[in-house]
Amino acid sequence: MEFIQQYKPWFDESEIEAVVSYMRGGGYLTEFKKTQEFGTSMASYTDAAHCSIYANGTVTLTAALIALGITNKTDEVIVPDYTMIASANAVIMAGATPVFADVERETICIDYESMKNAVTPNTKAIMLVSINGRYPKKLNEILSFCKERKISIVEDAAQSLGCFYNGKHVGTYGDIGSFSFSMPKIITTGQGGALITNNPELYRKVELIKNFGRESAGVDKHIFFGVNFKFTDLQAVIGIEQMKKIPERVVLKKKNYKLLRHLLGNVKEVEFITTGEDVTPWFNDIIVPDVYSLQSYLKEQGIGSRPFYPTLHTQAPYYLHDKHFPNAEFFASHGLWLPSYSQLSIEEIEKIANSIRTFFAGN
Ligand SMILES: Cc1ncc(COP(=O)(O)O)c(C=O)c1O
Repeated sequence: MEFIQQYKPWFDESEIEAVVSYMRGGGYLTEFKKTQEFGTSMASYTDAAHCSIYANGTVTLTAALIALGITNKTDEVIVPDYTMIASANAVIMAGATPVFADVERETICIDYESMKNAVTPNTKAIMLVSINGRYPKKLNEILSFCKERKISIVEDAAQSLGCFYNGKHVGTYGDIGSFSFSMPKIITTGQGGALITNNPELYRKVELIKNFGRESAGVDKHIFFGVNFKFTDLQAVIGIEQMKKIPERVVLKKKNYKLLRHLLGNVKEVEFITTGEDVTPWFNDIIVPDVYSLQSYLKEQGIGSRPFYPTLHTQAPYYLHDKHFPNAEFFASHGLWLPSYSQLSIEEIEKIANSIRTFFAGN
């Protein structure tokens, strides 16, 4: 069996034909009608009123904050200490200041109590990260708390395309939701991002921000601050084809995760995180006593894996030596992502589970 990668993209003749036909048709490559069509299909899948397609899922977050007017150093944005670093870096890029909070032990998402403790009169927003497609257990409390205090909610749903909560797509509960189409995602355009919102004013602003604040394309009249965060139609033709495949991938990813969970169910050293039926796990995540020894054993067996992110407060741009976020620290030192691409075969899943069983049987 070939080496089982932790992630790989999935495309077939439909993407290849779409690119060839676009190129043969003399497309200008740059962002135009195909990007709009890709955005329309994202809006329709997530049932959002508006969607703006961006260059990646970091600048989407930056633009969302700029559109909300959160651009001063004194403006604070609460970010979970356990997330991909882009969630915090986007705050710095917008000109504001990230403030960290711990995550829940059950979901790895922002902890309500810790979030409340981080609130000051300068708190302007929270970055609600649906990590691995999950929402915090106390989502409703967080939503009401923020509504009462007029604290904006930017949803970092980079990992959550195909995930729902009470029938509504993740990313539609806050003011604006952000997605990523980088390679290790349920669908990919190589790089790419999207912002969805039901707020027409926010949509208007994010469309301006990604195009130098131009009132209309190609006309150099600038009515708002903006830079170049645009996409390309060359990528959009791939995105349009990938969007058609989401429903099938949602089913596959859920099935793969369930099978893995079942096969490892009685390995006492392996912990799985509570995962609702509406969640399509982005990565197959497990909690184990010693991440690095399991990772190297799996590599010897021809299986790729990846340790969870580090806590942000231990990283160079944010180093806070006197702070502790116990749950975030726990996950950063015990979490491992197993192979997670949608097209994993049953044989591959069995091999992964058997290797983990053997590892723990011998330790
Ligand atoms: C939670 C989260 N936020 C933001 C990003 C950044 O997205 P991108 O790589 O498209 O810039 C990622 C990327 O994986 C992510 O996982």
